[in-house]
Amino acid sequence: MSRCPVHTLLDFERFAHGTPRALIDELRAQHRILWETDDYSGGHWLLFRQEDIDHVLKTPALFTNAFSPILDDFPPEVLAEQQKSLTFMDPPEHRKYRSLIDHAFRLKALESRRPAMENAAREIVDAVIARGECEFVNDVAMQMPMRVMFELLGVHAADYARVVQLVNTLSMADDPDFAENRMAGFQASMDLISFGAELAADHRRNPRPSMTMDVLEANVDGRALDDAEFGRLFNNLLVGGLETTRNTLALGLHQLILHPEQYRLLEQDASLVPGAVEEFLRHQNTVVYLRRTATEGMEFLGERIRKGDKLVCVLGSPNRDPEFFPEPERFDITRPPAIARKHYRTFGQGGHYCVGVHQARLNLEVMLAEIVKRMTEFRLLAPPRHTRSIFMEGYKEMRVGFRARG
Ligand code: HEM
Repeated sequence: MSRCPVHTLLDFERFAHGTPRALIDELRAQHRILWETDDYSGGHWLLFRQEDIDHVLKTPALFTNAFSPILDDFPPEVLAEQQKSLTFMDPPEHRKYRSLIDHAFRLKALESRRPAMENAAREIVDAVIARGECEFVNDVAMQMPMRVMFELLGVHAADYARVVQLVNTLSMADDPDFAENRMAGFQASMDLISFGAELAADHRRNPRPSMTMDVLEANVDGRALDDAEFGRLFNNLLVGGLETTRNTLALGLHQLILHPEQYRLLEQDASLVPGAVEEFLRHQNTVVYLRRTATEGMEFLGERIRKGDKLVCVLGSPNRDPEFFPEPERFDITRPPAIARKHYRTFGQGGHYCVGVHQARLNLEVMLAEIVKRMTEFRLLAPPRHTRSIFMEGYKEMRVGFRARG
């Protein structure tokens, strides 16, 4: 394979109107592995097939996370800081840090959280219902993940707006509406870590029940986390949990607007909500890719991979592989949810598989159930505006009209 300069997929122009899913289908049909150039350190390998993606994500000894799951080359001081955080760790450290947080998102923990989340969903819809229109992304879709994470972590309500602004800047750093340049994104990430460290210090001064307190009282290798270590975990949790869930709900509602007959199915039968959520996650996966970095030179899928090469797993590709999903491009909320869960790669795979997967599903289910119960006849008041990104698909604005039900 020649390494000729060509931007085949991960190019901002190609993502101007969202993930180019038809192009991904074509590439999966034609290539097992494909080299393309990029504007970072030169280029990367693209992978499309589920088995190849799984192999890379499950083999950290050969494909490390230590240089970030995104393509960007971090400035050395930012990289050094981030390498101490969960998302950049490999085994065995990774497992130890992850065990500090995973119990908070197990199904049992979530069941006790459900009533408060249902209350929150009611309040979120209450805030817009009389208006008959809203900007869905911020007025509705962001509200549930924000409230869940902030209440869980013991963030003071007065700080919500500041934290959301930092998360927006770092997650949407390629969009001039959120960050003046890429450096501003890196800076926001450092600021979020500092905020998390200050939150830990605040909990030590004023102990109160929260996930933050639980993590501070736990230990890794016989010692408790210091404030900076907690700050990095806080950063991982918010980056992982806010924009992803927000985007999935907004992208999913847009599909329901495009397919009103499917919305009517939900209105007639609320038991279809969990299946609809799985179809949002399959059809409209928000995380476009995960990058890993080769730890040594090797032959892989017939190509010569060099130490330091970036391998990019295109997560939405298995989601639309006809081997797993009949008529994969069709949005269909009645697909069997168990098959979707088994075959889509929306939440990644392997050791870094999304720790918040059950929380994400519950956020989406509770919010969608409340929406369907109380709102009907959704329509777009303007075309939704895509965030400029090749890593995470989402809308920064989606103005919708609707009618209150009943
Ligand atoms: C629809 C919503 C979500 C999607 C699509 C999503 C997607 C992902 C993906 C693809 C990864 C793998 C990253 C990698 O392998 O490098 C991941 C990891 C992670 N997610 Fe999620 N996520 C969602 C919701 C959440 C929520 C609600 C939380 C918090 C409660 C969360 C917290 C995390 C964390 C902390 C990690 C890092 C885990 C690790 O490195 O071991 N995510 N997520």
